[in-house]
Amino acid sequence: CIKCRLYSTRHSVVFGEGNKDSMLLIIGEAPGYEEDMQGRPFVGEAGKLLTKMLNAIDINRENVFITNVLKCRPPENRDPRPDEIFSCSPILNEQINIIKPKVILTLGRYSSNYILKTNKGITELRGKLYEMKDYIVVPTFHPAALLRNGSLKKLAWIDLQILRDVLREKGFYK
Ligand code: URA
Repeated sequence: CIKCRLYSTRHSVVFGEGNKDSMLLIIGEAPGYEEDMQGRPFVGEAGKLLTKMLNAIDINRENVFITNVLKCRPPENRDPRPDEIFSCSPILNEQINIIKPKVILTLGRYSSNYILKTNKGITELRGKLYEMKDYIVVPTFHPAALLRNGSLKKLAWIDLQILRDVLREKGFYK
């Protein structure tokens, strides 16, 4: 992803981590400061909340694969730009090809829009699942949004229950 490396004040390229054989792939937006420092996705405050959200539906983060649309931190954590998303997309596409997830949890507008090929806001997209050709997509709020606005947490909990039900149906929980 030449573009996002060009614009990023990065230290790291954060490709993602977790179990590449997992049926669940989680896609966020872009690395933040902590992620850039550690070279790992979702290790800052939003990441801690994501870990708790997963634990609430009996998922251990080591058992899933976690990545982002952008692989490098945008300067000052600004929103990803369309050219950066375009530039990083071959990596994400290849990750999807390798992992072959049955279910994708998209966190926030950018990953939801990329995966669902739409331009709608996350408030409109969340609350339901989307059956695509190769996988089911469950969009929800980005945990950073939940940290900014705690009143969204009850909606995120509904989305997590949707995710849990789909995973149950697919045999994720042994
Ligand atoms: N926010 C994201 O979207 N991804 C991370 O890895 C960390 C924070």
